[in-house]
Amino acid sequence: MTARSTVLTDIGTLVTNDPELGTGPLGVRHDAAVVFDGGVVAWVGDSADAPGADIRHDLGGRAVLPGFVESHAHLVFAGERAEEFAARMSGEPYAAGGIRTTIEATRHATDAELLANARRLMDESLRSGSTTVECKTGYGQSVADELRSAMVAGAVTDEVTLLAAHVAPPEYAGRIDDYVRMVCAEMIPAVAAHAKWIDVFCERGAFDGDQTRAVLQTGIAHGLIPRVHGNQLREGPGVALAVELGAASVDHVTHVTADDIELLAQSPTVATLLPGAEFCTRSPYADARALLDAGVTVALGADCNPGTSYTTSMAFCIALAVREMGMTPAEAVWAATAGGAKALQRNDIGTLRLGARADAIALSAPSYLHLAYRPGVPLVETVWQAGLSAHS
Ligand code: NIG
Ligand code: FE
Repeated sequence: MTARSTVLTDIGTLVTNDPELGTGPLGVRHDAAVVFDGGVVAWVGDSADAPGADIRHDLGGRAVLPGFVESHAHLVFAGERAEEFAARMSGEPYAAGGIRTTIEATRHATDAELLANARRLMDESLRSGSTTVECKTGYGQSVADELRSAMVAGAVTDEVTLLAAHVAPPEYAGRIDDYVRMVCAEMIPAVAAHAKWIDVFCERGAFDGDQTRAVLQTGIAHGLIPRVHGNQLREGPGVALAVELGAASVDHVTHVTADDIELLAQSPTVATLLPGAEFCTRSPYADARALLDAGVTVALGADCNPGTSYTTSMAFCIALAVREMGMTPAEAVWAATAGGAKALQRNDIGTLRLGARADAIALSAPSYLHLAYRPGVPLVETVWQAGLSAHS
């Protein structure tokens, strides 16, 4: 398709995430215009000075932001677990074992069924404003099922994560070390070419520190970059291991020690907070304020998965982060855009600086503040991916 230039005029509030283009860390401008050309941001300035373009879109004072960067999603699975959710809302605790229910359903699904479900959720994410979505395997947990899961993920995104060690499958019950040996000797070599990232659920009831280290190091040896599910349900070695192994991100980070926070603050590893999981498991939220005040780089993700957070809405997670985790609306918006890009080690997305990919959203509201101020309201009106209108 020929990339036609587009100019967005009369933007009430433009979030660029480039402090050189506007005020504050969000690089905010008012009465602004932006030009997309060749799939990238080609010009940013005052609406009164807007140049011409093939397509002119008058925003009528609406807010425009970079598209959300969802850096943590589990979209390759079959079935759902609404009954498990209902039981939790009646007082049952969340246990990692629920993952096996989805492993069972996923193993019985056809490739076409898995792909259709992943596409449905990607489409839902895009309509909700996520212009980049990472996608994990993790509900196969055999060589063949992880391989086809990675291929399904690769059909819907470039950001494929091999969650090789999510929970040991039933055939390895009580033999977790054997499962880890199989993952390292067979699964990672077979699937690595189809993924960019390697991930482990480092948690009691899933994989301990030594098992996590073995899987991540094998992944690194096969050219994958580590990211970790850590410290979701209780304190543990996940954060320290992530920092030690140079992980791009450690995700959940709900139960952390002062030492964990200090380690993160001194490292480039991003702390990705997933408040949808706390919401859907009725658990205490991560202390984003403590992490931010210590200087940790924080991202927000929706963690769409059938067990702990069956939402694709980054706007909902922004509202939760502001209301429940002590973040300001500006911090939450940054974390859901530029923060997600950092968690994926991407410089081309998450901002509307000149030359960035033209991924943007327009809200049916005059300011980004409304994402937290009007929770639950579908404010994302128009979505552009690489300069093309994807949903409006
Ligand atoms: O990110 N914590 C581990 N993995 C998912 C939950 C998976 C499930 O319960 O199916 C998460 O919350
Ligand atoms: Fe997850």
